[in-house]
Amino acid sequence: MSMDRKTKKNNNFGKRFYLHTFGCQMNVHDSEKMAGILSEAGMSHSNHFNNADVIVLNTCSIREKAEQKFYSELGRLETVKKNNPKLKIAVAGCIAQQKGDALLKRFPYVDFIFGPDNINNLETWINFSAQDTGERLKKTALAYNPEYHFMELPVKREEGVRAWVSIMYGCDNFCAYCIVPYTRGRERSRPARDIYREVSALASQGYREVTLLGQNVNSYGKNMPENIDFSDLLCMIHEIEDMKRIRFVTSHPRDLSEKLVNTMNKLPKMCNHLHLPLQSGSDKILFQMNRGYSYREYKDKIMMLRNALPESAITTDIIVGFPGEKEEDFQATMDALKEMEFDGIFAFKYSPRPNTSAVDLPGHIDEKAKSRRLSEVLDLQSDITYRKNKKFEGSTVEVLVEGYSDTDKDKLTGRTGSNKIVNFHGSDNNIGKFVAINITEAKQHSLYGILIHSFSVS
Ligand code: 5AD
Ligand code: SF4
Repeated sequence: MSMDRKTKKNNNFGKRFYLHTFGCQMNVHDSEKMAGILSEAGMSHSNHFNNADVIVLNTCSIREKAEQKFYSELGRLETVKKNNPKLKIAVAGCIAQQKGDALLKRFPYVDFIFGPDNINNLETWINFSAQDTGERLKKTALAYNPEYHFMELPVKREEGVRAWVSIMYGCDNFCAYCIVPYTRGRERSRPARDIYREVSALASQGYREVTLLGQNVNSYGKNMPENIDFSDLLCMIHEIEDMKRIRFVTSHPRDLSEKLVNTMNKLPKMCNHLHLPLQSGSDKILFQMNRGYSYREYKDKIMMLRNALPESAITTDIIVGFPGEKEEDFQATMDALKEMEFDGIFAFKYSPRPNTSAVDLPGHIDEKAKSRRLSEVLDLQSDITYRKNKKFEGSTVEVLVEGYSDTDKDKLTGRTGSNKIVNFHGSDNNIGKFVAINITEAKQHSLYGILIHSFSVS
């Protein structure tokens, strides 16, 4: 996208956009790209839809609950549009991709629909609709976009020290419960040189921590002409002097290689945290989920990691109430949580998703049993997390300071490499720097401590 476009006066100049993001980090980052496009078109961000000329809802369809939140927000917009007929409404993301024209029919006040592979089309639409010809441009942009992973879209990030960078799009795994391969399409990796360039630019803008994003980052580079795998990519990024910390999400246990563990061990900027979704402790359920590993194999990978990096934190995702999950399968998940002692988990009730193969499996579990299993999992894990956090009391940790805490406004907040949130009293000039904190108190979701000193590297 050229600078001309940014500086040239166009009909969008001074208009305001409201952008609401539903769902995961992937979507949050996609929204940063949408905000980048809208800002380059001369528009500014509005905090409320009532003051906006353009509204974009970036949707998520991973579970039914996320979908419902979107529908209730969209419902509210009908009267907003009635009161302001010039208002343009766009629906982006996975629900847009999945429902397509049906959404336009059901909600005639929606103007534009585009999928995760067509974010670049937002620019064309916004420019056309800015002409205000009175004609409504009803449009859907949902086609598979073979060029998308080569595109360099402008990104409007929140100011701060942490930034997210996409390294690959889509997923080829087809886990039986998951809608992602249908909404985000096949797996495609971005060229390593583009990623390198983006991370270098972030480092010179003052970002100090980068999280490399993809549905399955361990298989980065598959089917690419360059012979670069994920470990090679990490080594490249590691060379960027002013980028001090590197993280990545999400990994698939099947693709977690010894090479990657050795790379994490060898590169000092790699954060000692791995998010490795287990989903279930029962081999029968893992097989039905099409996960491609047994609990034993998962455990072996964790042992490999813990042997190489004993200090590393491990978090996971768990689904309860998958079709056919008997009480003994659920107990296998509880046993796995006790044995693995994860630092934290995200746990979900299984939610049937259109197109996915699990919908047709026998033995769907009723809501009540799912809710009971979910609270048992959460109760168990909350004890484990608290116990693990307690072990930090009395120790000194290195924290990258992000800013003032939202919940505790007079304290600064930051994270350890292992992704623990640490709050402490400090001053503005600690922000963006690495500091040593002595932990005095561990809570369920965060650690509290006293500032010992600031490191000279910033
Ligand atoms: N129901 C419940 N949880 C799901 N996830 C993905 N699809 C579903 C579904 N249909 C969870 C998985 C995945 C995380 C991002 O969301 O645990 O790892
Ligand atoms: Fe969904 Fe499985 Fe792909 Fe993750 S790996 S996005 S759970 S299909």
